[in-house]
Amino acid sequence: MSQNDINSKYVEYLNEALSAENAAVDRITSRIDETPLSQIKQRYQQHLEETRNQQNRLSQIITQLGEKPTDSKANLPELNPPSTMMLKKTIKDTIKSVTDDKKDNPLPEEMEFLKIKQDVTIEGSEIVSYEALIEVTKRIPNLNSEQIIPLLKQSLEEEMNMKKWCTDNMPMVVDNLLPKILSAISK
Ligand SMILES: [Fe+2]
Repeated sequence: MSQNDINSKYVEYLNEALSAENAAVDRITSRIDETPLSQIKQRYQQHLEETRNQQNRLSQIITQLGEKPTDSKANLPELNPPSTMMLKKTIKDTIKSVTDDKKDNPLPEEMEFLKIKQDVTIEGSEIVSYEALIEVTKRIPNLNSEQIIPLLKQSLEEEMNMKKWCTDNMPMVVDNLLPKILSAISK
């Protein structure tokens, strides 16, 4: 097993993390566009910036190892209820943001609530990914690990702060969304 083979295997793990960040940029961009909650919009704008920096850190490490950063996008983990469950939550009344032909769709507030739960799941998976990558980095021989580990730790810290922000703000989210969800079912 040559050092080249070992480095290639290590780059696979880096690219795996990078493909998750590539997908996260798309996800966060669409969340910023669609969320009705201004607090979410603002915090996610900050995290979009952080996610771009995370992409750059991983790309930098991969390039220094003489390999190519991937453009591919991972499938992010999703917490999806069975579609029949969401379909049951039909809109009983005309809601401004939803057109008539979409009557069988869940409320926008219900979708937002689901997506925020998915966001926390995604951040959790990113944390696991960076923690694992740091442990792998410590064990790969002949790496410039004094330079690589602080970069990975910085990204890990940003993911942890983002997940904590989501968790800390869950009461605000529920305060905003639940009354609308409940008022729609009582009509
Ligand atoms: Fe993240």
